[in-house]
Amino acid sequence: MSQMFDVCKIRNDFPILRTKINDKLLVYLDNAATTQKPKKVLKSIKKYYETTNANIHRGVYKMSEEATRLYEEAHAVVGKFINAAAEEIVFTRNATESLNLLAYSLCSSLNAGDEILLTQMEHHSNIVPWQQLAKQRGLKVNYAEINADGTLNIESFKSLLNNKTRIVSVTHVSNFLGTINPVDELSKLAHSVNAIFIVDASQSVPHMPVDVKKINCDFAAFSGHKMCGPTGIGVLYGKKELLEKLPPFLFGGDMIKEVTFEDSKWNELPWKFEAGTPHIAGGIALAEAVKYLKKIGVENIQKHERELTMYALQRLGEIPNITIYGPSAEKRSGITSFNVGQIHPHDVAAFVDRFGVAIRGGHHCAMPLAKLLCVTGTARASFYFYNTKEEIDVLVDALKKAQEFFSMSENSNNLTNNLKTYPNTKNEFSERLKNPSQKTKNEENKNKIKIQGVIEE
Ligand code: ALA
Repeated sequence: MSQMFDVCKIRNDFPILRTKINDKLLVYLDNAATTQKPKKVLKSIKKYYETTNANIHRGVYKMSEEATRLYEEAHAVVGKFINAAAEEIVFTRNATESLNLLAYSLCSSLNAGDEILLTQMEHHSNIVPWQQLAKQRGLKVNYAEINADGTLNIESFKSLLNNKTRIVSVTHVSNFLGTINPVDELSKLAHSVNAIFIVDASQSVPHMPVDVKKINCDFAAFSGHKMCGPTGIGVLYGKKELLEKLPPFLFGGDMIKEVTFEDSKWNELPWKFEAGTPHIAGGIALAEAVKYLKKIGVENIQKHERELTMYALQRLGEIPNITIYGPSAEKRSGITSFNVGQIHPHDVAAFVDRFGVAIRGGHHCAMPLAKLLCVTGTARASFYFYNTKEEIDVLVDALKKAQEFFSMSENSNNLTNNLKTYPNTKNEFSERLKNPSQKTKNEENKNKIKIQGVIEE
């Protein structure tokens, strides 16, 4: 049974949420990028290094055996969270590495002319590995289209499935639009042409109940750091019978059973895919994060995030000239991408930071999707179970101030028209914030320089 959901109590578990940014209490709304860590997870990392630090599967001494036990148990804990067996859970560095592993290992048995089906709303990590392997092996990559409301166009998806389709890899939840894709239905469609069905679950496993057996996906990938775990630890789920057949991606120590000068035999699952010393502390801490999420209750997390999203959509809707991307609240998760008038999303994100609000601005590692939407990027607020409606109010107030600030007329020019070009750099942007009436160097040269967007320095 999960405990009563008490967001005030929950926030006490996250020391970072007491941080002040620019003298304002941090309002952390960049959870699609990474989530904050509760004390239990932080303590487990410290405890591991203070009491149990030894390599696994190698030592016959007590400390190594204990490290091995904890690390192996972590696979079981993570597996149970998504209804999988421990041997079906491979620890990787992150979802990106899990997807690369699949691309390399699965594509090695494909032939020129075989097809891979993705969607137009994929993160780069579910495009680039397939694209590169396709180039090497003469494969074709197709992209199912999205509808105007940011949902997947199922007819387009169906029309691209055929007897050459070998792999279908789709995101469960779009990190850009928040769209929740009907993975159960897509799984059936993919399997109807005998394709392997992969789910990028990076934005779903941390936020909603995910049952890999119910979805009937062949593989799934997600990252630990997006679900209260540490960075550097990720997960690849695979059906046992498929993982057994799949060739390893990385070779070396621990992934072997026997090595001669001539050849090698692979270890049992999941170790066959975990070459070298793994992120032991990370795996153990990820299990601690899973236990923590289970205690909060994944259904409670989903319900709270839905309430926040509905509230955010309503409050953001009050801002004149705002464009909100993605489907209606019931078809989306706690991710909201938007643009405020013509203000560049980097400027929006940098401006609200003045009020302690952390949101992401940019293309969210989905450049093809941004291009499709005819934007260089968006501002994005993404929620987790420790966020509150009051924090959304702080965001909305900061956005209203941003709008006022950027629409100030200067020398009868409408500043917002210039923002795609000036100020050019983050430093110049800070310079302007300190002294709005003074022109930055680039603004003085504004007829000479034409650079789009804010440049990273
Ligand atoms: N994939 C992460 C995001 O969407 C980094 O922000």
